[in-house]
Amino acid sequence: MDFNWTKKDLLSIYDLTAEEIVCILDTAEEFKKVCQRNVKKVPALRGKTVVNFFVEPSTRTRVSFELAEQRLSADIINIQANGSSLQKGETLLDTVKNIEALQADIIVMRHSAPGSHNLIANETSCGVINAGDGAHSHPTQALLDIFTIREKKGDLKGLKVSIIGDIRHSRVARSNIWGLLKLGADVTIAGPSTLVPREFESIGIKVCHNLKDALENADVVNLLRIQHERQNAGYFPSTDEYAKIFGLNHNSVKYLKPDALVMHPGPINRNVELSSDIADGAQSVILEQVTNGLAVRMAVLFLIAGCLNK
Ligand code: CP
Repeated sequence: MDFNWTKKDLLSIYDLTAEEIVCILDTAEEFKKVCQRNVKKVPALRGKTVVNFFVEPSTRTRVSFELAEQRLSADIINIQANGSSLQKGETLLDTVKNIEALQADIIVMRHSAPGSHNLIANETSCGVINAGDGAHSHPTQALLDIFTIREKKGDLKGLKVSIIGDIRHSRVARSNIWGLLKLGADVTIAGPSTLVPREFESIGIKVCHNLKDALENADVVNLLRIQHERQNAGYFPSTDEYAKIFGLNHNSVKYLKPDALVMHPGPINRNVELSSDIADGAQSVILEQVTNGLAVRMAVLFLIAGCLNK
């Protein structure tokens, strides 16, 4: 690989070129090999300090980043909103300035406020990695999804990917859409019209409100979680009704190609967007996505740390 990484932050997939996305994926392939060795640790971030600052709940992303940092031999500090001085009214920027004063090198942050990462990245010399900001962006999730698709299906050019569910509230959908488009995939989004706005057509993707149309001919289907915590209005009559009309289950799976990949970023609402037998079935790559997340996050940390060294 011959690519000169120059970004100190990873804020959004939208900011990346196709070449930068491919650089991360290729680097992650190398780290996946490290993760499959008997000794799974390398000294790439020895002497570097990474602060994981999670102001919103997380299992997969938080654990995966921390493990990635351990595998790269970084020093690690974990801060959560509960128990931090944010609870005493300290501003986000003051917290970040204090982390910087303690000579941290990289801040991995999850925050409910869209754009909060851009705010801090402009004010700190630390590298900033977005681990999810509200409904806006979740770049490492999209990168691990795209890594998994590339690993299973090869080149993404012309590949048909359907993203189904709560697109309106989904940072995963937005990040996947930008990443997939940049790599030439053919993207469809589907779900109830209240959760899948027609405005998305203006960026060159198909919008449909019919599950059969979204499943037929898809090479990949990515089911998204119904985000009860971000919904302050009734976007559909009931969860049962959603599951019947838009859930991938024993009724709708007949429309799916036998070699189509079934993906979900997690956490799953079992038997709502996806029935348990399909989530755990032969076409599902959901846990492989989680495994690949480790290599992808090692790659992102490695590239950003390398950039900070220059
Ligand atoms: N997919 C994802 O971001 O999961 P967590 O919220 O558990 O990190």
